[in-house]
Amino acid sequence: MNHVTTVTKPPLNFNQIQSEYAAKSPRQILEFALEKFDNIAISFSGAEDVVLIDMASKITKNFQVFSIDTGRLHSETYRLFEKVRQRYDIELEILFPDAKQVEKLVKEKGLFSFYEDNHKECCGIRKVVPLRRKLGTVDAWVTGQRKDQSPDTRSNIPVIQLDNAFSTEEHKIVKFNPLANWTSEQVWKYIRYFDVPYNQLHEKGFVSIGCEPCTKAVLPNQHEREGRWWWENAAEKECGFHKDNIKN
Ligand code: ADX
Ligand code: SF4
Repeated sequence: MNHVTTVTKPPLNFNQIQSEYAAKSPRQILEFALEKFDNIAISFSGAEDVVLIDMASKITKNFQVFSIDTGRLHSETYRLFEKVRQRYDIELEILFPDAKQVEKLVKEKGLFSFYEDNHKECCGIRKVVPLRRKLGTVDAWVTGQRKDQSPDTRSNIPVIQLDNAFSTEEHKIVKFNPLANWTSEQVWKYIRYFDVPYNQLHEKGFVSIGCEPCTKAVLPNQHEREGRWWWENAAEKECGFHKDNIKN
């Protein structure tokens, strides 16, 4: 595995940081994360998590950003990636799935197997494999997850956690969720106030945005998560990025 060695810093006391930072602002949490870890990456989905990039760019120039291109994203999402790359003058690392695994899946089951068997196999190949590869090279990552995005799976997410889904015995990975306690309304106020670029799909009724075949616009007052994998049970709606959120 392609490990990058970084300066050793004292181990983190998660419980202490958790209580200390639970009520702090996303910017303060991000500042702490970027100060503690030199080898840390923001994972950017192409939706409202763009605010993390805006905040980080106001703190330092020294941060990594990556997005996973599953091959099934909307063209609006690709356009946002490009806009963000230019606006913040960052190197946006785009990660792709393993071509052989995708070819095998599509050959055996076609292009829409997730409607029949559920999303796990396709997400496993198109999202989780490239994510695992990337996380093998960093010590910490930052996500745009929020509690209000899913009452079924995200209502308890902490602002900092040990990533039990991707850590190994030899390589522990820390996960930061600086937006955990923000609401959608706060995120959108920030986007408008600072004129942050956003995905044009938001102007067409989309709230939560993932892959094109698995995302749809929602109706007024419908929860945003209902626009994702709508044919599946709400408690299972995590793609494998955030497996820690699913309770057995
Ligand atoms: S998902 O598990 O349902 O797909 P969601 O779309 O809510 O997740 O996004 C939550 C966070 O996961 C994002 O803010 C981002 O940090 C990360 N994420 C999701 N999809 C991607 C992607 N394609 N590339 C990079 N990060 C992603
Ligand atoms: Fe495949 Fe849908 Fe998962 Fe995208 S969200 S990787 S298309 S199952």
